[in-house]
Amino acid sequence: MIKKIGVLTSGGDAPGMNAAVRAVVRAAIKKGMTVYGVKRGYCGLIEDNMEEMNELSVAGIIKQGGTMLYTARSAEFRTEEGVLHAKEICEAHGLEGLVVIGGDGSFRGAADLSAHGIACVGLPGTIDNDIACTEYTIGYDTAMNTAMELMDKLADTSHSHCRCSVVEVMGHGAGYIALNTGIASGALEIITKEIPYDLDKIAKKMLEYKARGKKNFVIVVAESVGHADEIAKLLQEKTSIEARSTILGHVQRGGCPTVRDRVVATEMGYYAVELLEQGIGNRVVGMQNGKIVDFDIQEALSMEKSYDERLHRIAENIAF
Ligand code: F6P
Repeated sequence: MIKKIGVLTSGGDAPGMNAAVRAVVRAAIKKGMTVYGVKRGYCGLIEDNMEEMNELSVAGIIKQGGTMLYTARSAEFRTEEGVLHAKEICEAHGLEGLVVIGGDGSFRGAADLSAHGIACVGLPGTIDNDIACTEYTIGYDTAMNTAMELMDKLADTSHSHCRCSVVEVMGHGAGYIALNTGIASGALEIITKEIPYDLDKIAKKMLEYKARGKKNFVIVVAESVGHADEIAKLLQEKTSIEARSTILGHVQRGGCPTVRDRVVATEMGYYAVELLEQGIGNRVVGMQNGKIVDFDIQEALSMEKSYDERLHRIAENIAF
């Protein structure tokens, strides 16, 4: 039986991380465990920056964006010395288990620490939804709703000026945010790495639709697939339709988590503590067909995530 655990958030922050921290802390205390909050991810673990949490430490945070534990990406933790140092800190505090809330990079660290005898359980926390073993990651819904609201505002101004608005969304190269927000904002085109695109064809379509009365155009592009500035410039050159680019950027990571993010984070946080309670580590928690499940970390990291090509084609098909 594990009686003392830690919790940390690592990598890019995501709305709902606080809800997960709250669930971990409250579940652990209910089960008679002692729980420490580690600040700034693995950096805080190496620097011994942690404090004991109680029910009150997490009061009111379920509705807050960001992470009360702060977050970071630690270069030192990627080295063997860093992991060994972190293990010694855990042992010095009597921490036998650790909940790591973050993305794939954070899970690699959790696997390394698990191999050194600290039972780690990863929770998928990233707005990108790019973790293969789970159909949902904490923060995804909030980020998409934020992006959609901003795109709605952009559509107002681009409609008034009869312009083309090229919007770049986050996703760490993956097209999940772009696909869903593109559909939700009625985009003419959704540019993701998963489906090849051709700017000449997009320009031709814009001119055809303009001739049929269309006034404004929204093009959504996933970051690191194309640059919104460049695409806007090229489309304007090809069509003579005035174009403006907007990179939504880090605003997508902020804000109060949606109901979905709060609930999923709570369920996953609770589940992680149930695993640790039984002494089970080296696991990642995920969602499959709406159910909370867990996987061996290495197995989870070797999986490949699919892309909903049919949804992409539907979006293309009905766009005007
Ligand atoms: O993984 C979340 C994410 O926001 C990605 O979408 C983006 O590529 C990256 O983090 C940005 O990282 P940083 O906050 O370090 O600039």
